[in-house]
This record gives sequence, structure tokens and C-alpha cells, in this order.
Amino acid sequence: RSSCGVKRTQEILDTLVNGLSRLEYRGYDSAGLAVDGDKKNEVFAFKEVGKVVKLKELIASEAPDMDKVFDNHAGIAHTRWATHGPPSRVNCHPHRSDPKWEFAVVHNGIITNYKELKVLLEGKGFRFETETDTEAIAKLAKYIYDQHPSIDFTNLVKAVIKELQGAFGLLLKSVHFPGEVVAARKGSPLVVGVRTAKKMKVDFVDVEFNEEGALSAEQASQTVALKKQPMGASLGASLLAPPDKSLLHRSQSRAFLSDDGMPQPAEFFLSSDPSAIVEHTKKVLYLEDDDIAHIHEGQLNIHRLSKNDGTSNVRAIQTLEIELQEIMKGRFEHFMQKEIFEQPESVVNAMRGRLNVEEKTVMLGGLRQYMGTIRRCRRLIFIACGTSFHSCMAVRGAFEELTEIPISVELASDFLDRQAPVFRDDTCVFVSQSGETADSLMALRYCLERGALTVGIVNVVGSSISLMTHCGVHINAGPEIGVASTKAYTSQFVCMIMFALSLSEDRASKHQRRLDIMEGLGKIPKQFSEILKMDQEIKEMCLKFKDQKSMLLLGRGAQFATALEGALKIKEISYLHCEAVMSGELKHGVLALVDEKLPIVMILTRDDIFTKSLNAYQQVIARKGRPIVICNTGDKEFPGERTDKIEVPHTVDVLQGLLNVIPLQLMAYWLAVAEGLNVDFPRNLAKSVTVE
Ligand code: G6P
Repeated sequence: RSSCGVKRTQEILDTLVNGLSRLEYRGYDSAGLAVDGDKKNEVFAFKEVGKVVKLKELIASEAPDMDKVFDNHAGIAHTRWATHGPPSRVNCHPHRSDPKWEFAVVHNGIITNYKELKVLLEGKGFRFETETDTEAIAKLAKYIYDQHPSIDFTNLVKAVIKELQGAFGLLLKSVHFPGEVVAARKGSPLVVGVRTAKKMKVDFVDVEFNEEGALSAEQASQTVALKKQPMGASLGASLLAPPDKSLLHRSQSRAFLSDDGMPQPAEFFLSSDPSAIVEHTKKVLYLEDDDIAHIHEGQLNIHRLSKNDGTSNVRAIQTLEIELQEIMKGRFEHFMQKEIFEQPESVVNAMRGRLNVEEKTVMLGGLRQYMGTIRRCRRLIFIACGTSFHSCMAVRGAFEELTEIPISVELASDFLDRQAPVFRDDTCVFVSQSGETADSLMALRYCLERGALTVGIVNVVGSSISLMTHCGVHINAGPEIGVASTKAYTSQFVCMIMFALSLSEDRASKHQRRLDIMEGLGKIPKQFSEILKMDQEIKEMCLKFKDQKSMLLLGRGAQFATALEGALKIKEISYLHCEAVMSGELKHGVLALVDEKLPIVMILTRDDIFTKSLNAYQQVIARKGRPIVICNTGDKEFPGERTDKIEVPHTVDVLQGLLNVIPLQLMAYWLAVAEGLNVDFPRNLAKSVTVE
């Protein structure tokens, strides 16, 4: 954060620590920060292992005079999810160039050539103190600075990042450039929040791009208009209208103009995620790969790593649509619980303005332009990781049935490991809550290189996947903080069903089926609310699983995806080993595990293959197993006195998985709570895995 006002130490530290706690869901094994002091060469740095609250305690016990007034206050902070080197104070960010903190850096991503850089810098006399890749960045900055002491901060960072391979979103500060912060990104997100001192219309920021002079107003407004298109109007990112000519500044070096044409100082907040800044401002701009943002004395200047690389010269200011309360827990104990209970609303947001149940129409604005191409494609390849992969599995059958296009569903990492063939007439759909998962992003680059059409189904607006794909759909689920994904799953599911409905709209043979599905979608929110009323019942049922080490979750057809997702939820947060089994496969091996003790949950809602699913039920009963059955309300097949049941309403078969997953989410939640585990911060996991 950088600004031109006068601030007290307490306020600066609070802003940073508060921002970190909003980001904690992304990584939480250690946290640290560094701020400028008010004397030349003075830096205050704090690092602590564990959650942000530990860092807060450390600062409270060791911080400098809280009432001290600073007029220079650049600060950087980080919360870590260990990749290189275990969680420890020393490995925690910020990293420094030397014991005097001449250069300090925080970094997301991975520097793949850090070993080479380390060897080179050690050869120049640098002594490394950590096991991280990030430290090489700070040391490299000092090395280059010492060679060129008159270099400015931006050019120094340019020189540094030219040497880096891999992915990064990074922030640097230095005692040589007090009050300045430079940010750079390549493959890892960075958003800049802008808070202006007085109410001011700020529409866009020009990027320093060529030396020949400024863009014309026409060119700039065209670029802003173009930027609106990729994900379509229904995406929730509200770009402001194309800028007024009078707002265009003529010089490439100033970022903001007021109505009278004079530069106005502003406060800036840089973050990997808008959640950390939404309480300070809703005006943001997203940096793009190879952008270098320099903040000093209330001004932001954005530079490009190399000139004329075809990137737009305009970074539009967008208005965040998230509210602070959306990223707070409210009346709930945990974010995951809040997000489970938000689902009746979040699926409505996914459908709003897209599905018209009365008129039986579906329109996905972000795909409209490409619909013809997608209908003619050779195959649709869905690529994702984790929960997002499961949502693709859950809708595969619906896509096959409605579109009759060959469908494959791929785990991003495996797809890349195999270097699977991709052709120009393939459509590759990238499904991701965060839009930043490294494996999915790399698979996206791979498909782009091969000329395929790419579609993003993403929650986070402005995320890398949403920017890099040709077109897409934002699922509009709102911020999802709990590491275990819940509402994103159901919203992805709904968006993909709407995608399949759109693709099949001209198929006469599917007419009635499409109408049934649309009608079914319209009822889902109410049905979610009904299922959520079983919360306490499910909580009590979970007590039976206390002290168990293992559990089976059985499903067949589309419900195998539900089983996979339920089992993942249970593993992630309750650490109970839970295996999803395709019921047809039970007799081919897993049946050996079944006895009267092993906890088994079977998904047995009615669909075309119900009688086949019943076979597995009989096989379990015959081995004295006592499964808990998820079935449709009032199903006589499972008399209450013999079977523990979770009854869910009936819907169209391709939507049944939406309803069936809710009790499993609740089960995972209550299992974890019963074990006294930290539901929102499961050990070893991160919400957004930005490393390979
Ligand atoms: C991580 C998270 C999972 C998530 C997966 C994919 O592993 O812990 O909950 O499903 O990444 O994330 P994405 O943001 O691409 O959906």
C-alpha cells in the first residue's frame, strides 16, 4: 500500500495484517510483513509461523511506537503456503537481500531457475539464509542495484524479472526508494485497488507502451470496449463506460487525472486477491502478465516489460461487486458452513439473467459469439482439478445426451503429463473456481498454443483463466473462502447445464427434454433450502462415524461424480479416509472391505439405472453392512425401520447430483467439527494452488 498522506504506525500495520487475514484462506502456514520506517534505511519486519493471528501477537509485543507518525509508508505483507522449504520463520516472506533489508520482496508462484540464480549470486558473495526460491529475487535486485546505483526502481525491477523463469506475482520495496513499491506479474494474479482522496471519475489507466507518444482517445476507448467482450455482459464485472476524451491524459507518465486535468494523488492497495482490499476501495484494475506497476507519492504508473508486444495499452478500472460482509462469516461458525447455506442463493445468481423458466430460454452472453463454432467442434474437452473436475464429471452425461458431441473430462495435470493431442477444431473448457490453479492454467496455455477454442467457467472475475480464454461464463457464486469448495461446485454444475442447454437449443429431438431440465433448474433453489433443513439430523447421524478410520461412498452413473465430490469433501476437512466407489465396480474388489462395522453411504436416488444401483445395495446388505442411504423422499424401497436414510427431493435425473451433494457437504462439515478440526483451514491444503 502506498499513499501520500500521513499515517500512524498502528494504522499501517493494521491495514497490512487485516489484509493478510482476509487472504489467509489462500495459504496459512506462516505470515510476515515489512514496512518503511520514518528514518532513512529503517525497515520494520515481522515474521511468524502459523496463522495471521500469531503475527498480530508478535507485532503487538514487538512493534515500534504505535503513535509514531510516518509520512512515508510503503508496506508489503504475505501469507504463505509452503512449496520450497518447510514453514518456518526464516522461510516466511518477506525475503530480504541482506541483513539490512535493502530490498524486500513478497512473492506468489515459483521461480524455476532459482537454483541457477542462487549459484550465480553465491559466486558474487551473497549468502542465502532460506530454502525458498523467493530469496533469489531480493538478492538479485541488490546485485543489479549495486552494479547500477543510479537506476530507478522500475527499471531495476524490469532488469530483475528479465532474469526470472517461472511464475510470479511479486511486490518489492527498498530503502533506496523509500515510499515506493513496485509490483510485477507473470502467471500469478495481482490486482490494484485505487482509493482517491476526493470523489473522482477514474475510468482507465494508460500503460506506458511506446516512446512515440500517447494513444488517441478513440483508440483507447475502443480498447476498453473490446475488453468488455471476452466473457460477455453477464459476467458481473462492471467495467465503466468507455472513457470520456477529456479524461485521457496526454503524458504517458501520469496515471490519474481529475476532471480538471490535474493529476490527483491516490492510495493504492496491491493484492493477489480483491478480498484483501474490498474494505478500502471497490475500484480496481487487474495487472496483466509482464506489467510492472510502480507506485510512488500517490501515483501509479504501469510499464510493460517489452514494447509493442501486442498487449492493450489500457487497463480499465472495474468496480468490484463483492461486499465486505460476503467475505465475513456472519452468523455462521465457519466459512464453509456459511457457503453451504448460501447455495439456495448462489445458484440463483448463476442463473440470473440467463435462464428464463417461464419463457424456457437460456442465454449465456459470454458465449454467444462463439456458439456456432462450439456446436461444430470435433469434441468438447473439459479440463479442471479437484472439485471443479468433479463438477465436469457430474455434467458429462448431460452434455453427451443433449449435444451429441464427443466429450472428454480431463484432470489438468494428467492431461499435460500425457501431452494429449489437441486440435484446432476442439473446444477446451476450463473449469475453475479461482481461475488461477497452476495445472489448469498450464493446460490452457497448451491448448491455446494448439489453436483450440478455449472457454472459461470461472468464479473469480479478472482471474487469469477468465482473461486468457476466448470466451466464457462467470458462475457468480460470490467469494468462496472455505478451502473445501461447496457453492462453487453447485454453481459450476448449473452453469455447465445451461451451457449444454444452449448448445442444444436447435435440436428438435431434445425439445421436451430441454424444457424439463429448465423447469427442474427453476426449482433447485427451493429444494436446496428443504435439504438444508436436515442439517441437525445429519449432524447427529455423523456421530456414528466417530473414531472411524475409513468409509465408502457409493454411486453410479452421474452419481459417481457426487460420490467423488462427497469423498473429497470428507477427506479434505475431516481427514477420514473416504473412498468413492462406482457401485458397478463394488463386486470387483472393494466388496472385500465390507463388514458390519465399515461406514458406507450409498447414493440411491431414482434414475434409469436405479435397479442396477440396487444390486450394490443388496451386495452390501448380504455382507451385514448397514449403509446410510441417500434416496428420494418417501421411497418405499428403503423402509425406515431397517435403513438409515437421508431423503432428498426428486428432480430431473441430470440435476439430481446437485441435490444429492448437499447432505454430503453437511456430513463432511459435521464430521470435521466433531473431530474438533479447523474446517476452513485444513492441514496441508490451500484454496488456490498456484504451483504445479
Ligand atoms: C485446490 C483446492 C480445491 C479445488 C482445486 C481446484 O486443490 O483445495 O478445493 O477444487 O484446487 O481449484 P480451482 O480454483 O481451479 O477450482
